[in-house]
Amino acid sequence: MRRQPFVAGNWKMNGSCVTNQKLVAELLESLGDSSAAAFAVCVPHPYLDQVSRLLAGSCLALGAQDVSPHESGAYTGEVAASMLLDFACRYVIVGHSERRSMHAESDALVARKFGAARAAGLVPLLCLGETLAERQAGDTLPVLFRQLQAVLDAHGVAALADAVLAYEPVWAIGTGLTAAPEQAQAVHQALRQYVAERDPGVAAGLRIVYGGSVKAGNAAQLFAQPDIDGGLIGGASLDAKEFLAICQAANI
Ligand code: PGA
Repeated sequence: MRRQPFVAGNWKMNGSCVTNQKLVAELLESLGDSSAAAFAVCVPHPYLDQVSRLLAGSCLALGAQDVSPHESGAYTGEVAASMLLDFACRYVIVGHSERRSMHAESDALVARKFGAARAAGLVPLLCLGETLAERQAGDTLPVLFRQLQAVLDAHGVAALADAVLAYEPVWAIGTGLTAAPEQAQAVHQALRQYVAERDPGVAAGLRIVYGGSVKAGNAAQLFAQPDIDGGLIGGASLDAKEFLAICQAANI
């Protein structure tokens, strides 16, 4: 099955009104109106309004980096999925390893966030990834399956039909170390197989993107792998030229 490639930038806690305006203008100038691939930028919450206006009517979609598991109420500092929709967000990252490690987000909490995003009609970008210690202990797949299973337990395999999985080995994020294309492919294939054992149709259509030090120089090789459907791009998404080259690599 031909899956539409997908590339999303994850700006993390970077940007300002001035730099956002410049970066988005540069991206929109070069991204054509029609493309075989889908593209998005996931921006910090305070800039959703600004970037939403800048992207209106363009082929670049808007995403957020986190969402509350709650619908509304007394949750100081939290941002609800319905609020993200108010700013025309289409995507939201859930379970990024920086939130799992720095904010102690459990598999169960990530699954609740995934559910909140879906219930509101957002597309969750569900991040899965093993640490270096887990990889060295030979636990890569058990860790990824455990993280994925929490979502399957809570929402069923059909919930993945509207989602994107992002395989992001923690040891490759922001480190300059990238999983070799074959190494990443093996993991993507295993994840797809895990889903296929539960629903072959969902597995065949599921986009599984790779994240972790993707750059213009390594994107094409990664995206050429049969089970790698694009990328989630951190550092390189802050540089228009780099990000555009990565988008180009997915647009095949
Ligand atoms: P990186 O980050 O591209 O800077 O490694 C990827 C991510 O954390 O999504």
